[in-house]
Amino acid sequence: MNVLIIGSGGREHALAWKLSQSKDVDRLFCVPGNGGISDVAECHDLNVSDTAGLIDFVRRMKIDLVVVGPENPLAGGIVDAFEEKGIPIFGPVARGANIEASKIFSKELMKASGVPTAPFQIFDDYSKAIAFIEKKEPPFVIKADGLCAGKGAYVIRDMEEAKGVLHNLMVGEIYGSAGKRTVIEDFLPGIEASYLAFADGETILPMPASQDHKPLLDNDLGPNTGGMGAYTPIPFINDAMDRDIRENIMLKTIASMKEMGIPYKGVLYGGLMISQGKPYVIEFNARFGDPETQPIIFKMESDLLPVLVASVEGKLKDIKEIKWREGVSVCVVMASGGYPERPEKGKIIRGLDQFKSEKDIMVFHAGTRKAGNEYFTSGGRVLGVTAIGADYEDAIRKAYDAVKKISFEGMQYRKDIGRKATII
Ligand code: AMP
Ligand code: GLY
Repeated sequence: MNVLIIGSGGREHALAWKLSQSKDVDRLFCVPGNGGISDVAECHDLNVSDTAGLIDFVRRMKIDLVVVGPENPLAGGIVDAFEEKGIPIFGPVARGANIEASKIFSKELMKASGVPTAPFQIFDDYSKAIAFIEKKEPPFVIKADGLCAGKGAYVIRDMEEAKGVLHNLMVGEIYGSAGKRTVIEDFLPGIEASYLAFADGETILPMPASQDHKPLLDNDLGPNTGGMGAYTPIPFINDAMDRDIRENIMLKTIASMKEMGIPYKGVLYGGLMISQGKPYVIEFNARFGDPETQPIIFKMESDLLPVLVASVEGKLKDIKEIKWREGVSVCVVMASGGYPERPEKGKIIRGLDQFKSEKDIMVFHAGTRKAGNEYFTSGGRVLGVTAIGADYEDAIRKAYDAVKKISFEGMQYRKDIGRKATII
């Protein structure tokens, strides 16, 4: 089969790396790709939002399966457009991607189907939102309805801040129409977990649960980022809770969408808060997580291709199980100086060539570009240094030993990725 991956991040490098090992993949393409992906796939710098151009490319290259990484093309209906032309594509249709692209759609669906989530109210009127929060005690959470590149949720600690956020979103329209409607919800204290599952419209095949580290600095301080590291599995979801999440959150959500006439295929990603021993959904995403995909896919022993094909064809129940490597997988993100506000670019990356034959270490590329035999930084999150170890201590040590051998000017990384697993 010829396969095309759409995207350019660490998540897409993990998918490309894994698919490049499949015996059934003949040619692997990526649009637009990055420095690391160009080592395992043919990268083409096409415009991802030009659906007609992509369809033309898919036909010329005789591509049999398209795999979509990021949320924007999904929300924009790339799957609908490809399906209309009869091109197999992994990901949900636009109405399914709404589970991520509209917090209001997602909260209403959860409420209607009894999926546990924080109590909430929806507002399209600024003065009504202000009147509502005046009667509320912080902490609470304000969320823009639409996609804001991961920046649309605000945990509110004081009233003045809340008023400023509502004004910026609903009146100032800092995120355009994405923030004109808002959700205000109760704050849930607890531990966050990412629960990703393959879906085929009917059933699901879960991946091991993982944990992201969103803030820039150690101990969850500093500004939020796309994610500074992740590890899998996590020690605070036992088998009983896993079953509960699978049945009462993931399958219920897929079933509700099916009832609405939405065949949800692709990855359903539950962003969970484990609060007082019970899982609640903080948000859903309609795609693989980044950086969670890097440690998860590094741990995957089975071939990824048949799972993707079964999702697209509605045949996941034919896949009895996915085999995972034993142990713990940890991914430490190395980011550019200035990230997340103004990441520096164009810095040479040193030390990458020493891991090529390591079975337990993989350096996934995100914001990198290759020129000749050298790699240069080209974005905020640059690398996801991923290691597998026998336990948390071993995996963390291996990941950081590898990080210390890599360098680029201005680099920053958290020193505590995976630590939460060792203190619980
Ligand atoms: P979201 O964009 O919805 O994932 O929210 C971003 C971050 O805000 C989450 O990763 C949580 O840390 C935090 N958050 C969002 N909603 C809540 C909530 N209801 N209770 C506590 N924290 C929340
Ligand atoms: N790791 C967070 C996300 O993919 O949205």
